[in-house]
Amino acid sequence: MSLAQTHSSSAPHIPVLLTPILDVVKPISGRWLDGTFGAGGYTRAMLDAGADTVYAIDRDPEVFERAQAWAGEYGDRLKLIKGTFGNLDTLAADAGGTPLDGVVLDIGVSSMQIDQADRGFSFMQDGPLDMRMGQSGMTAADIVNTADESVLADLIYLYGEDRKSRRIAGNIVRARAVSKFESTFQLVKVIEASLPRPKPGQTHPATRTFQALRIAVNDELGQLVDGLRAAENALGEGGLLAVVTFHSLEDRIVKRFIQARSGNNPKGNRYAPEAAEETATFERVGRKAIGPSDEEIEFNPRARSAKLRLARRLGTDAGEFSPYEMGLPKFDLERLI
Ligand SMILES: C[S@@+](CC[C@H](N)C(=O)[O-])C[C@H]1O[C@@H](n2cnc3c(N)ncnc32)[C@H](O)[C@@H]1O
Repeated sequence: MSLAQTHSSSAPHIPVLLTPILDVVKPISGRWLDGTFGAGGYTRAMLDAGADTVYAIDRDPEVFERAQAWAGEYGDRLKLIKGTFGNLDTLAADAGGTPLDGVVLDIGVSSMQIDQADRGFSFMQDGPLDMRMGQSGMTAADIVNTADESVLADLIYLYGEDRKSRRIAGNIVRARAVSKFESTFQLVKVIEASLPRPKPGQTHPATRTFQALRIAVNDELGQLVDGLRAAENALGEGGLLAVVTFHSLEDRIVKRFIQARSGNNPKGNRYAPEAAEETATFERVGRKAIGPSDEEIEFNPRARSAKLRLARRLGTDAGEFSPYEMGLPKFDLERLI
């Protein structure tokens, strides 16, 4: 069946890489956890494919209002949980769902969130400079209006990988002395004035700074590390972990986690200190990340940069690991407060 037959391109959010995930999990049964419920594309597909129960977590309260239109179709097979996937082990245990047979994470923002100008995620639309998925806590405006220049520069460099971070941070600080940032377009103008005009085919100059702010506002990379650790705790033997990421900072963390936890750390050089031999807790499924097919990219251009990585839980005890060894950039979010 083609993608166009299974999903409408006018849906609020088109699930990414759903077909390859379902190909691996089928036949599906037991207790599954969807840590990034969104528009419910993965959750519905898993319930329709035969999962007994799906524990569906999201930090954005709006998604549950939208789900009211259809959630009743699944009765008590669908458990909706407001929270963060960084705590998925506790949330699943409290809901009576552990050990789990599978955990799926589709990291990042949904199309609904990007497309709503008043959420402040998009540099293509004018709106309040907000970017909070959970709709509480520090906003992107709070960060650009209060952080020290050197902290802003480090943030844009480490979370946005923008080599012109110092110039952008300096211009933000000069602009806010004249008038505080309130809207996305105010920030876009300052970034555009800081960087050369993009050549055809290059990304928008605001892409990296917006990515950095979004990651900081939502502690996205800290959540990812915590979510992987929590999945290790909550999955039963044979349980599947499936993670879809959208940029290199996220994929690096998932790749290193699966390599390290499956005993496949790349060999260092002979001068590097010998890494301690850890007991493997996962077996990786496939050596490489799975990307979207040409058909999926044509149908849903937002899938272009998506990568899926998979691993299966072994029966060994969960262990400890260092988030920095997993590729978490060394940026202390406390510096923003
Ligand atoms: C890319 S969308 C998921 C779309 C979903 N797979 C579907 O098919 O509709 C990501 C969702 O995860 C949520 N989210 C992101 N980070 C989260 C976190 N740390 N904890 C809980 N929810 C999170 C966002 O609010 C958003 O609704």
